[in-house]
Amino acid sequence: MSVELPRTMRASAAEARRPAEPPTPGRAGGEAARASRGAAAEVAVDCRGLVKSFAGGAVRALDGVSVAIKANEFFTLLGPSGCGKTTLLRLIAGFETQDAGSVAVYGQLLDGLPPFRRPVNTVFQSYAVFPHLTVEENIAFGLEMQRRSRREIDARVAEMLALVKLEGMEKRKPAQLSGGQQQRVALARALATAPRVLLLDEPLSALDLKLRTDMQLELKRLQAEVGITFVFVTHDQHEALTMSDRIAVMNRGKILQIGTPEEIYERPAARFVADFIGETNLLPATRIGERRFRLASGEELETAEPGAAGEALTLAIRPERASLAPPGDPGLAGIVEQIVYEGTDTTYHVLIAGGLRLRLREQNREGSRPRVGTGERVAVALPAAAIRVLAE
Ligand SMILES: Nc1ncnc2c1ncn2[C@@H]1O[C@H](COP(=O)(O)OP(=O)(O)O)[C@@H](O)[C@H]1O
Ligand SMILES: [Mg+2]
Repeated sequence: MSVELPRTMRASAAEARRPAEPPTPGRAGGEAARASRGAAAEVAVDCRGLVKSFAGGAVRALDGVSVAIKANEFFTLLGPSGCGKTTLLRLIAGFETQDAGSVAVYGQLLDGLPPFRRPVNTVFQSYAVFPHLTVEENIAFGLEMQRRSRREIDARVAEMLALVKLEGMEKRKPAQLSGGQQQRVALARALATAPRVLLLDEPLSALDLKLRTDMQLELKRLQAEVGITFVFVTHDQHEALTMSDRIAVMNRGKILQIGTPEEIYERPAARFVADFIGETNLLPATRIGERRFRLASGEELETAEPGAAGEALTLAIRPERASLAPPGDPGLAGIVEQIVYEGTDTTYHVLIAGGLRLRLREQNREGSRPRVGTGERVAVALPAAAIRVLAE
């Protein structure tokens, strides 16, 4: 578990207790504020010990969540439906109040501040654009609320239209736009007021696959261009892996692991993470030596990760890291039960001793044929370096 503790923020307790001041809208204000706080600008969103229950305590939506999201980071909250992702965003945005814990944005404690005083903006799952307003009126909405000058609003709207590539569509109503275009209007509206942090709650889930893939790339481009901290929520592990600088994997109101996509995929810290991110084979095993394990079937395996003998643990290996070998070769003996052709890859389902099933994946190259047939005996080679040892 690598939940990061903020390093330099809240230089003193006095600073932390400072009464919250209204956020400074606009880039110039933001930069000035950043400069004045010096090194504290490193952490954009600092959540500490957040607890939130619903239904009179019957549902613990957040069970002690601490996370430090860095400035200008594309940070993703990933987890199954109901794990508390939206609740965490709503606490940061101020739509809910926590039972315990604190939220600070760029060193400013937000406790008690209403949503509109917070230096954050939210893009929701449903596009939530105003159907009776044109594209440009939608984008101008937040700026009008802030009573900016007409000239400033016009300039900013033009800038946003170019950013989300909707030039020429400013007079249209949302009904005259595609789903992807409506979502871009929602994004432009949220970005127009230059929030320091943008919260995005499954913003792409209503789009079909092709459009979603396009929008994923656009969101990444936008984030790089505007240099705002993005806190992005998804239950889609592929989306999280491809878009994020770092990911927090959540389950049952807790953060289980925080890391880069590569760290999360290659070095999952918990069984849940290994299982949720990508596909994985999980083998219950007992450590019988520093690097040696025995499976329930009695077969033994070597791993690269040392530890003390005697522990009952779980070994995790990705389907693409295991491979087929002739029967009798080193590895686990098994019988091929099923071969599934998947276009780019072929997946082999192998029944091994003790009744466990392993999945192996091989990339299909030109002219490649399945090397074995169903019912054939094989060995499954599991390289020591590819086996993760999980404690829970
Ligand atoms: N207003 C509410 N009243 C009661 N239960 C809620 C409320 N909001 C969320 N919950 C519950 O809290 C848990 C976390 O919900 P949520 O944060 O929406 O999860 P996610 O966004 O990860 O799907 C769920 O069990 C959900 O049913
Ligand atoms: Mg949700």
